[in-house]
Amino acid sequence: MPESRLAPTAAAPNLPIINLGAGQSKTIGRGRQADVVVDDASLSRLHARVTVDSSGQLAVDDLGSTNGIFVNGTEQLSAYLTPGDVIRFGRIEYMVSLADAPPAAEAPAVSQTILRRVAITDTPKVDKLALEALLATSREMMGFDDLPALLERVLDRLASIVKPDRAAILLLDPATGALIPRAVRPSGAYQSVSEFASSTVVNEALNSRDVFIVYDIRMDPRLQQAASVLLAGVRSVVCVPLLGRNGPIGALYADKLGVEQFPPELAEYAAAFAGHAAAALETAQLYDDRERHFRATLEAFAKAIDARDHYTAGHSERVTAYSLVLARRSGQYAAEFETIRRAGMLHDIGKVGVPDAVLLKSGSLDPLERTLIEAHVIIGHGMLEPLPFLGASLPAVRGHHERWDGAGYPDRLEGMDIHPHARLMAVADSYDAMTSARPYRDALPATEAARRLRADSGAQFDPQMVELFDAVEEEFAALHEEPDAAALRSELLRSVG
Ligand SMILES: [Fe+2]
Repeated sequence: MPESRLAPTAAAPNLPIINLGAGQSKTIGRGRQADVVVDDASLSRLHARVTVDSSGQLAVDDLGSTNGIFVNGTEQLSAYLTPGDVIRFGRIEYMVSLADAPPAAEAPAVSQTILRRVAITDTPKVDKLALEALLATSREMMGFDDLPALLERVLDRLASIVKPDRAAILLLDPATGALIPRAVRPSGAYQSVSEFASSTVVNEALNSRDVFIVYDIRMDPRLQQAASVLLAGVRSVVCVPLLGRNGPIGALYADKLGVEQFPPELAEYAAAFAGHAAAALETAQLYDDRERHFRATLEAFAKAIDARDHYTAGHSERVTAYSLVLARRSGQYAAEFETIRRAGMLHDIGKVGVPDAVLLKSGSLDPLERTLIEAHVIIGHGMLEPLPFLGASLPAVRGHHERWDGAGYPDRLEGMDIHPHARLMAVADSYDAMTSARPYRDALPATEAARRLRADSGAQFDPQMVELFDAVEEEFAALHEEPDAAALRSELLRSVG
């Protein structure tokens, strides 16, 4: 039997040729533990495994690499290879060939299937390579704590395993018990669960708690009457229940149209994949719920803070909205929106420790009263410090009254020593203070507030933050000026962070 050969498409001294005989397997990676060490930073330590089975079929599996494997330009988790295929690990390309070409009749069957074949025996055999690829996927999926991003990734992986024409993730709404399509490929392919083979497929899978697969719908009497199947021209369907700790949380659904069928090995692999996907989705859902409750709690806190003084009603929410607008504009804080949101909502929480007689006083403040008011940043910092999930928001809570010229409080920090979130929030906070009425003065017009911000650039405010404000001044005004401002703010707070 000829050897399979992987040769680099561009010759280089650090790129070995890889030869594999039947039954051989080699790992490829940058690390010393790899069988084939490729000295290139774009590869993971253990990037991939190439294997030739006893029949001469060459396959490659991703071992959880960072930069993935691409076969003929398409990212694959696991793929069969055939002579002429170009496979890319990171940015290194190899071409597949046979070391000595066999007679045509002996050439391995050309197959684009990306499923590792699982031998069907009485006692299920654990396919180590498939398991490794699955574990890599599982580890990757458990790293997501953002539900929408995870849904997309699960569909990516499902697509690379199953190669469906259409696919969807359905999740149970715990409140209503209804199944909702939460992610769909191609987008808009499905609007409701009733389109999933008249729900027959989904119900079968959920009721049996097992993979439901129909290789050829024309041969299956259960789906002969399903109008949606017949209308769409569905040939082959697979549906796998997503089982959480306390029962089903949803299902993965995929179908093929036209003439192509799912391969017979799909069921086992799909079940294993769904097990990992369910664990990751359940965790992300819990996180999502916790996030939502947490946000609601923050908003309640913020309202309670602002309610003590009717002049400051809505202040925390507006400061949060302005801060997020500045952060979004700068482009530097994309990963920190949530931190900034929390800081904005809670920046004045320490005011709960300031006596009413001082907080609500309409006349000018004496030095002692000023000290008491200024203490709100230290009180707030002390209140939130024990809460680990607010740790990153503390610098803005403590520092939003620091001044660029060093004359602020509580730490008299200066310039870049002030945390960027605090410098950003100082602009947002002052804009809202100026454009809101006070017992001793009317609200300033937005244009006057903007003029004063610019005049104080380099004194009270970081010039870079004022530049950012210049770019979004109209957005600030829109978020401030009723009657549309409240709706705009809540939309912004919902969509950013
Ligand atoms: Fe404040």
